[in-house]
Amino acid sequence: MKLQGKTAIITGGAQGIGRAYCERFAAEGAAVAVVDLRDEQAKEVAETIAAAGGRAIALHTDITDEAATQEMANRVQQEFGSIDVLINNAALYYDQDILDQSVEYLRKTLEVNLIGQLVCARAVFPTMKAQGGGSIINIASTAAYPLPLPAMPSENFNSNAYGLSKSGLIYMTKMMARQAGSLGIRVNAIAPGVTMSEATKKIVPEFALTGLKESAPLGTTLEPEDLAGTAVYLASDDSRLMTGQTLVVDAGVWMNG
Ligand SMILES: NC(=O)c1ccc[n+]([C@@H]2O[C@H](COP(=O)([O-])OP(=O)(O)OC[C@H]3O[C@@H](n4cnc5c(N)ncnc54)[C@H](O)[C@@H]3O)[C@@H](O)[C@H]2O)c1
Repeated sequence: MKLQGKTAIITGGAQGIGRAYCERFAAEGAAVAVVDLRDEQAKEVAETIAAAGGRAIALHTDITDEAATQEMANRVQQEFGSIDVLINNAALYYDQDILDQSVEYLRKTLEVNLIGQLVCARAVFPTMKAQGGGSIINIASTAAYPLPLPAMPSENFNSNAYGLSKSGLIYMTKMMARQAGSLGIRVNAIAPGVTMSEATKKIVPEFALTGLKESAPLGTTLEPEDLAGTAVYLASDDSRLMTGQTLVVDAGVWMNG
């Protein structure tokens, strides 16, 4: 077990990719805080982990609410005695609406997908600093990298809110890594490609899947569980000299670096 003795806060842990992180982290020996707005589902994840012999609590927290995230971090510290890992996974993804180009929607997306990640990182910072270290894993997306599509005439500039938020998160990962490295706090990101969570099944039409799979050198899209090993690696001491990095996990579609 690679995460024995560690405590992980996993935001957006109630479903999809976040749930896969929660279950794998618990199986690797970590105590897990399942943080989400979906109370029933988060509770069910924590109960499933406990039934398998692991340790988990479900906490209702809006990641954009500073006071609530601080309260959440205090609660985790009291319950498990440390905060070693934060996976900033919660995002507006399920609710993503690429047709909504309003400034209000852009603000809302950046509030949850970018500012929310900063707010959560700030909430765990004092504990990680006092402990002498920790690992923060920001969940970005390959949507951060603009598609090389033919020029598309438009009535106006599109905000591409989701890609913008994830691109900002990659920048923020590097800045946080620089600022916190001397405290032993590492900050890295994972940029998943198309992953067949419930959210993706709702927003990506069936007919588009064959093309998406064929565009990947490894010939497939991902399942939520396919991302968990990379998160375990970034959380564990195996990656102790890695910080400020974004690992693309997408079956080879984007070959950055
Ligand atoms: N599924 C994909 O293809 C894919 C690809 C690249 C990146 N990602 C990223 O992976 C992460 C998980 O994706 P998913 O497919 O499991 O999405 P999802 O929509 O199923 O899960 C997101 C979770 O975040 C929670 N959440 C949303 N706003 C919140 C808030 N303000 N406070 C607390 N919790 C909140 C939701 O309740 C939900 O449980 C997201 O960051 C997403 O952007 C997903």
